[in-house]
Amino acid sequence: MRNKANQFGPIVKWVGGKRQLLPALLTHVPKRISTYIEPFAGGAALFFGICNREREKKCAFDRAILCDQNEELIACYRAVRDDVDALIEALSVYRYDRDLFYEVRAQSTQGWVDVARGARFLFLNRTCFNGLWRVNSKGRFNVPFGRYTNPRIVDEAGLRRASEVLTRVDLRCGDFVGTLEGATPNDFVYFDPPYIPVSKTSNFTAYAKEGFGESDQVRLLDAMRVLSKKKVPFMLSNADTADTRALYREFTIRSVEASRAVNSDPTKRGPVREVIVLPRATLLRKRASVKQQAFDWERT
Ligand SMILES: C[S@@+](CC[C@H](N)C(=O)[O-])C[C@H]1O[C@@H](n2cnc3c(N)ncnc32)[C@H](O)[C@@H]1O
Repeated sequence: MRNKANQFGPIVKWVGGKRQLLPALLTHVPKRISTYIEPFAGGAALFFGICNREREKKCAFDRAILCDQNEELIACYRAVRDDVDALIEALSVYRYDRDLFYEVRAQSTQGWVDVARGARFLFLNRTCFNGLWRVNSKGRFNVPFGRYTNPRIVDEAGLRRASEVLTRVDLRCGDFVGTLEGATPNDFVYFDPPYIPVSKTSNFTAYAKEGFGESDQVRLLDAMRVLSKKKVPFMLSNADTADTRALYREFTIRSVEASRAVNSDPTKRGPVREVIVLPRATLLRKRASVKQQAFDWERT
């Protein structure tokens, strides 16, 4: 994970991370946000992108809610926010070593404090294969050791920068639905759910032992309908497939290019198309005020 000097950025490598889509996503983020809500936070690339924008005085938010179902990830963010010095110290015992990796991977974190959980999490994230987080049916992390030349396990400056901006964040572990209660038209919600599988052989949705199935995608659609009715602005990103387009056909859909690194076959990594889904009202407002850019197109 390398973030540009002095820039806020993700502290974890994350499957489906949105760094490459940032410029396209940022065009749809309101300039003034009361509560920024990211119910599927993962590496929270857009949240950190918005923090950079805020520093450039191009937008502002009062507070944020970052949520994910991954308990270890949220414990890690809490450790970064609440005790970054202790976290950095706890990380100093880790080194890039295969035996140590498998020993640490086998540990249960039950009863551990956030700092210890966060350090273990960052170590595994930096040294496992492709930075994947995948668990077995018992919820145990099962990604193999990754081959790297001298991976950076502690990014002290990056952790300290993240700690600074996480102070305004309510960190929640759980299902996305809970984050939407009480959302108002002054807030902004960014959904980046697990992908609807592109093909039957590429169904990487197992971030958590429960997975994210068809019924979850429908629950999410229902939640978007409720937000639309309440005039809460939102944005969703997902893979550009016929299924995604069919699922979100009642909303505005824009297609953008992104590169994706997660595929066991390296020849299948590379540029793919993603969709950005927006409420219809936003489109109408934008149409009235802004000329469509040539590469943007919509399906109605
Ligand atoms: C595509 S990733 C998000 C990537 C993120 N935008 C980034 O920049 O790294 C989807 C995330 O949703 C989380 N997740 C899966 N099911 C969930 C649920 N029911 N509620 C909340 N989060 C969930 C996964 O743990 C995963 O971190």
